[in-house]
Amino acid sequence: MKVCVIGTGYVGLVTGVCLAHCGHHVICVDNNEEKVKLMKSGQSPIYEPGLSELMQSSTQAGNLEFTSDLGYGVDHGEILFIAVGTPALPSGDSDTRYVEAVARGIGAHLSKGYKVIVNKSTVPIGSGDWVRMIVLDGIAERQKALVGAGGVSGEEALSSIEAEFDVVSNPEFLREGSAIYDTFNPDRIVLGSNGEKAIAMMQELYAPIVDRRFAEESSLPPVPVVVTDLSSAEMIKYAANAFLATKISFINEVANICDRVGADVTQVAKGIGLDSRIGNKFLQAGIGWGGSCFPKDVSALIHTAEDYNYEAQLLKSAVSVNERQRLIAVEKLQQELKILKGKVVGLLGLTFKPDTDDMRDAPALNLIEQLNRLGAKVKAYDPIISQSGMRHGLSGVIVETDPEMLADGCDALVLVTDWQPFLKLDFAKMAKSMSHPVIIDGRNFLNRQTVEKAGFRYVGIGR
Ligand code: UDX
Repeated sequence: MKVCVIGTGYVGLVTGVCLAHCGHHVICVDNNEEKVKLMKSGQSPIYEPGLSELMQSSTQAGNLEFTSDLGYGVDHGEILFIAVGTPALPSGDSDTRYVEAVARGIGAHLSKGYKVIVNKSTVPIGSGDWVRMIVLDGIAERQKALVGAGGVSGEEALSSIEAEFDVVSNPEFLREGSAIYDTFNPDRIVLGSNGEKAIAMMQELYAPIVDRRFAEESSLPPVPVVVTDLSSAEMIKYAANAFLATKISFINEVANICDRVGADVTQVAKGIGLDSRIGNKFLQAGIGWGGSCFPKDVSALIHTAEDYNYEAQLLKSAVSVNERQRLIAVEKLQQELKILKGKVVGLLGLTFKPDTDDMRDAPALNLIEQLNRLGAKVKAYDPIISQSGMRHGLSGVIVETDPEMLADGCDALVLVTDWQPFLKLDFAKMAKSMSHPVIIDGRNFLNRQTVEKAGFRYVGIGR
């Protein structure tokens, strides 16, 4: 099928590249010329394992193109994905101005024939109908321009466009760092629309994924497709992220109680996770959730509820537990080192989770700010951020290029991100370069025995 994806952030680029790999002809549109140039040369603007390789193979096969020309993309696609950012405004509401600009742009370029316009961006509930209105506005503006240019009557302008379209909400559930795997092995595909033709086209588009043609285990039953109305599909995205974030806040609260009563939260998580009604995922206690989705989506849902005169008490608590949890390492450092003023703290990891270069709403940022406020000097090593050129926006922290050098002269270390390479660090060498080696394991990630044998005092979260 012919597909156009507008916006090449995480979601847009991964969606475009994976659909091209499925055999569809995909044109990805972005208004950032530099980025388009980079992607045309086969390089991914984001760090995501396996993405560049798929980009290159699909480009060579002629299934994938990049352009900054929206009209060219809209003309090509029978299915048009809107996948631009919806960042959080200071109020907590989503900033939908990029979605609006794209919807208007689509309207201005629509011509004869039927198209499906898909909301892939996480948009406030009710946006499907709003996008429809904006696209219609875009069409009307173009008609006006045609009439204004002269020689064409209103009716002629209308019939020269005769655009027909339906809007579909198709939320994305991929995780950064395993985006390709998640796209080819989804737990479900959600399609919300009032148009039957649109749903049928979307089902055809996703057939290779539903049939698990690119899945790791092709013997599994087909991927379930959940067909709903527009608003329910939009709500599914928010509810899924809010549930997962709440689940993490829940286990973090349990961890804090474990700390006080002398229980081990990792064993508690195992014990409750085996209950199939609870499930063992997203029960890893630590220094809290961050990233581009959870914080933004939970606060957007709280605000939507407020707009409809409902106070989302549970979600508000999940957020406040998380805010407190982000500083749990500072509390533990104070217990270990007492006065933090003048002390040197080394952070292992900066990104909000491993296998990404994403620093958006990373717990490390709060940690750095608070440690600085208390007069501590902060150093850090991160497998990706420590590479040159990726330290933008970071202040109050000295970024080291070597994990073992990081320990040199530190009073304590904090493991912030559960990067796999940290398991193989030379802890004995690191301990030797510290006067009283102590490590706060902010993700309960390290092997306590290994680290203690190397000479460290080990402090976990809730164990
Ligand atoms: C999330 C959702 O998982 C995904 O479905 C959605 O499309 C986008 O948001 P992502 O932000 O990439 O994906 O990261 P995820 O792996 O979900 O982790 C989010 C945060 O929760 C990270 O900061 C992570 O460290 C933290 N986390 C996760 C925990 O603290 N404990 C856990 O058990 C799991």
